[in-house]
This record gives sequence, C-alpha cells and structure tokens, in this order.
Amino acid sequence: MINNPNESVPHIHWPPIIRPRRLRTTPWIRNMVSEHRVTVNDLIWPVFIQEGNNLRTPIASMPGVERLSIDLLILAVKEARDLGIPAIALFPATPTNLKTQDGEEAFNPENLVCRTIRAIKAAVPDIGIICDVALDPYTSHGQDGLVRNGIVVNDETVEVLCKQSVVQAQAGCDVIAPSDMMDGRVGAIRKALDNAGFSHVAILSYAAKYASAFYGPFRDAVGSANNLGKSDKKTYQMDPSNSSEALREVGLDIAEGADMVMVKPGMPYLDVVARIKDAFKVPTFGYQVSGEYSMLCAAAANGWLDREKVILESLLSFKRAGADGVLTYFAVEAAKLLKAQ
Ligand code: PBG
Repeated sequence: MINNPNESVPHIHWPPIIRPRRLRTTPWIRNMVSEHRVTVNDLIWPVFIQEGNNLRTPIASMPGVERLSIDLLILAVKEARDLGIPAIALFPATPTNLKTQDGEEAFNPENLVCRTIRAIKAAVPDIGIICDVALDPYTSHGQDGLVRNGIVVNDETVEVLCKQSVVQAQAGCDVIAPSDMMDGRVGAIRKALDNAGFSHVAILSYAAKYASAFYGPFRDAVGSANNLGKSDKKTYQMDPSNSSEALREVGLDIAEGADMVMVKPGMPYLDVVARIKDAFKVPTFGYQVSGEYSMLCAAAANGWLDREKVILESLLSFKRAGADGVLTYFAVEAAKLLKAQ
C-alpha cells in the first residue's frame, strides 16, 4: 500500500514504480490532469464610489484602486462587462456630513449607492450588481450597527438593515449581501424583500465574516477607518480561531433563506471555505479582501513576487478550496490575464 499516506510502514519500492512526475512532464499532460481552473465567470469585482463628476481618488493603501464618481465608474464597469466579468459589488464612500450616529443615510433612496445602481442598470444592464448591507459606511462611529450605551445592538440594527436592503432592491440591485453579522438578519431581510415585492432578489450572505485585521485598507477606501478609531468589531464578527462556528453560521443563514454564502477574508481562511463547501454544497464565495490585495501588490512592487503569477495562483487557490467564485480587486486585471492565456 505504497500510496496510503496513513500506512505507518509503507512498502518502499526502489527504484519507484509509482512516479507522479510522469503526469507533470509536458504542458499537454499537465493540462489534461489539471483539477481546477479559474475563468472570468468566477470573478466578482468590488468597486468604490464617491460623489462628484469626473473624479477619481487613489486609495493610498490599495495601489491601483481608485474611488470613482458615478460617471467614471460607468466606463470602468463597461470595460469589466466587455471582459466578461459577471458582477460587481458596490461600496460607497459617504461624505462625512451625511454620517450620523444611527446611519440614516443607509436607507435614503437617493443615497450614493442607490443612484449608482440606477445609473449602472441604465448604462450597463447586463452586469450583475451586488450591494453590501451594513451600516458602517453611514455611521459616525464606523460600526456596522446601531450603538446603544456603547453596545452594538442586534434587533434594532436588523430593522434598519431591512430598510437598507429594500431601498437597494428598489433601485435595481440584483443581489443583497449582508456583511454586518447581526443575528437573524438574513431571515428578516428575506421577509422584508418578499413583502416589498422583491422575491426575485437574491441574498449572498457574508455568513462567515471574521474580525480581521486584513480589512484595514478597505476602511481607508470607504473612509470609515477614522470613524472606527481604536474600536473593533469583535462582538459581531467571528473570532479568527473558530471554524466549526462558521458551519453553524452558514447553517443558520441557509435556513433563513440565503441563496449563496461567503467567507471573508479569503486566502488565510480557505480551510473554512473547504469545510463549508463540503458540508453544505451551496454556492460558496470567498472574498480576497483589501489587505490580501495590498500585500500582493506591495510584494510585487518590490520585485519580491511575480505579480501576474501570484494573482492567478491566489485565485486558483480559492477554486481549489471549493469556492464557486471570488470577490477580488484584481478582477479586471485577472480577466485580462486569463484572456491573454
Ligand atoms: C463592511 C465591510 C467591510 C468589508 C466589506 N464590507 C469592512 C469591515 O467589516 O470592517 C471589507 C472588505 C475588504 O477589506 O476588502 N461591513
């Protein structure tokens, strides 16, 4: 039983009879036995939006990523669509004067996200739109929920998230993606969407979202880093030491009506993707978050890593873990690389 790694004393043949290298000899045979592949259909592109016209603001901690005003975003989204990218995920940078203790701007039907959805649906109708549901872009304290006596309260927050989901659906969003990690929010949002006539709008739940330091650059991008200050999100986002708990979260979200689930961050949490996919067999996505993007860019910029190769290898690792797709800031670049292959 030479190929049983559990055999304590394997019968070793020398010279070896079984030679795995035979299947690695040439490109054609490697292609023939390759198990996983990344295609453009696997890529979801997260984008940052800002107010104004003809404005682009580079994000210092995410080289190559810019916040765009709606007019410029439309051009970028057209390019993504032409490359075959199936969907984008929208993230607004809310002007500071609209941020409040209770984040009311989140359910203003004329807020930046809703105006962006309508503009994209009018200009580029054949690309999917995914919208985050959480209050952090809108709260003056940078938390994803309402704060009462210093505590991020659950049920009252969920009521606001339902209103936020409905205005986004009314604007034309295809997929609602709750990223807030409040308990019971998927079921409540499903009900709110159905009651408002949006039973066709899907829910992609950030089911296993960890309290991670890899989100740092994103908080710069949406301008919530200063609001959050030294606080953290550990009372609602998951403890990085847990993975059985992720299965419990996913089970709840599916029972409450989630159509798809997500794990976040991505690369350091691919074991969680694999366990979820194994256990539930539902569409499962990984989010290669801002910190993962910035790490790879920084190493490549120093000449320490080959940028194009690590982009594609990192995305392939999500597929190998069992992900059906990846949210990645590299989406457009990766789509171009895949096209050139
Ligand atoms: C907001 C949200 C965050 C991200 C996506 N949605 C940040 C956070 O929870 O603090 C992070 C994405 C990234 O780092 O790329 N709830």
